[in-house]
Amino acid sequence: MPAPPSKPKPQPQPKTKPHGPGTAASRSKSSRRWLERHFNDEYVKRAQQEGYRSRAVFKLLEIQEKDRILAPGLRVADLGAAPGGWSQVAVRLVGDQGRVLALDILPMDPVPGVTFIQGDFREAEPIDRLREALSHEALDLVLSDMAPNMSGTAADQPRLIYLCELALDFALQHLRPGGTLVVKIFQGEGFDAYLKTLRRHFRQVMSRKPKSSRSESRELYLVARDLIARETPPGLVSG
Ligand SMILES: C[S@@+](CC[C@H](N)C(=O)[O-])C[C@H]1O[C@@H](n2cnc3c(N)ncnc32)[C@H](O)[C@@H]1O
Repeated sequence: MPAPPSKPKPQPQPKTKPHGPGTAASRSKSSRRWLERHFNDEYVKRAQQEGYRSRAVFKLLEIQEKDRILAPGLRVADLGAAPGGWSQVAVRLVGDQGRVLALDILPMDPVPGVTFIQGDFREAEPIDRLREALSHEALDLVLSDMAPNMSGTAADQPRLIYLCELALDFALQHLRPGGTLVVKIFQGEGFDAYLKTLRRHFRQVMSRKPKSSRSESRELYLVARDLIARETPPGLVSG
């Protein structure tokens, strides 16, 4: 009779962890911690299970539950849209009669029903393309989840506030009177002044810290409703 297959002998393990680009050991401790936290995160798991492209969708869904900002038939711009989680939610909730335009500096895989424009929101050209895609019709809702690449230095805050200011300028030019802006912002320098400006232009401004937004993050969302009417800019049809 042939001898039963013997168990493979345990191989000696290297005494030191391998080093080099792409190996776990070469990653900084903090980025390893980030990866561990990311893959253990309940919202990351839920996003994967439910077919969403980002954990960020749960922030929008929580805002939606409270504020009912998305509804059938609305025209929506999703700024800082990649990888597309918010666009997935928006296109579903506005339905066939609605419209979703998305913009990001990064490429984004198509989301059925969403018009995507790739470009830097700090530049005029992508905004012109957005306006053309809108056929010069006014928007009901502007969403901005834009955030610069975080360096972890004091430079992050002014860069984010600048994107928030651009989102507000865009909203003031493209929202219909009564429209809504939802913008991601960080508490810190420039926050109070930004809030004050929002309150000059919108009748109702609420701050939201969704449960899915990490508690240690200074991130929160401002929901600014009911844009105060002003003169419609030339060439824009108010809906
Ligand atoms: C938090 S992510 C958005 C996640 C998205 N809401 C989702 O659910 O998938 C922020 C996005 O802002 C984009 N962004 C940052 N700066 C930008 C800029 N200047 N112009 C356009 N997009 C920008 C980033 O490329 C990034 O995709």
